[in-house]
Amino acid sequence: MIPATDDNAVYVDATFGRGGHTRALLSEIASTARVIAIDRDMEAVASGRQLASEDVRLQVCHARFSELDRILEEHGVREVAGVIMDLGVSSPQLDDPDRGFSFRADGPIDMRMDQTSGESAAEWLNRTEQAEIARVIRTLGEERYANRIARAIVDARPLVSTAELADIVRRAIPRRSTGRGARSTGRGARSTGRGARRSDEATRTFQAIRMQVNEELSEIEKGIVIAFDHLKIGGRLVVISFHSLEDRLVKRTIRSLAKGPDLPRRLPVRAADVPVVGRIVGKATRATEREINDNPRSRSATLRVLERVA
Ligand SMILES: C[S@@+](CC[C@H](N)C(=O)[O-])C[C@H]1O[C@@H](n2cnc3c(N)ncnc32)[C@H](O)[C@@H]1O
Repeated sequence: MIPATDDNAVYVDATFGRGGHTRALLSEIASTARVIAIDRDMEAVASGRQLASEDVRLQVCHARFSELDRILEEHGVREVAGVIMDLGVSSPQLDDPDRGFSFRADGPIDMRMDQTSGESAAEWLNRTEQAEIARVIRTLGEERYANRIARAIVDARPLVSTAELADIVRRAIPRRSTGRGARSTGRGARSTGRGARRSDEATRTFQAIRMQVNEELSEIEKGIVIAFDHLKIGGRLVVISFHSLEDRLVKRTIRSLAKGPDLPRRLPVRAADVPVVGRIVGKATRATEREINDNPRSRSATLRVLERVA
């Protein structure tokens, strides 16, 4: 992502988290280059501001990456040399029971990445119609038992804690489909090859609710389009996704940007005459066995790169 020659380049880390990618960028770029880091989570931003107090090349903003237009304008930047988007939730978010992302520990059902705005997952679950809850769990969780789970959620309202929600989901899934003789306890994951482990029955439902509350799919689509719009020629956008639903959207969005706009069929223009603006760099990259051993959460990560060529 880093061209060696551009001393005044600006890079964007659109998902700062705890700054692993920002630190790597800062260690590579020139003393006159800059990194603008964004996160919608105030705890991530606080950790970023700490790092920024030690390195003047870093500026940290509390924002969604779909607001990149405004952020760059406020920083007087029109073109950037690279953008990295590392999608999903961070380990600190997942590991803190009070954030409500985890079905492994008990806490309030919050799940907002940005706790300063919007509706918590509990508020959403406790007010939304059963059919809509089922639709979200089916489409964003790819969960075949979405109807049963939604019915069980509505029957148990008002819901308060993540342990309660996880238990309701596990009970709603028929025993035979779990592949185990007994109901899940949240433990007992087993290996299914490629370093993968069988996931808890609550995984898909939690993923769906989290994606709904944080409007993740629309963020990804808008974020990629805006980031590509601001890349200078030769600049690169790197996107890391964490599950197949996210990756399919990333792949589709990147492909359509690389291809350029669809022309109306009757227009007297040959496809070969339409300027190509983007180039997909290499194939999708998966974590190596070694990386998975060092960081088991990387096992489902997929990295894709798009370069601006015109
Ligand atoms: C997987 S973590 C990134 C980890 C980071 N690369 C690191 O090295 O620590 C994803 C981060 O992106 C943030 N995030 C997710 N969606 C976002 C969005 N639409 N706008 C801004 N930040 C977002 C989350 O709050 C979280 O901190």
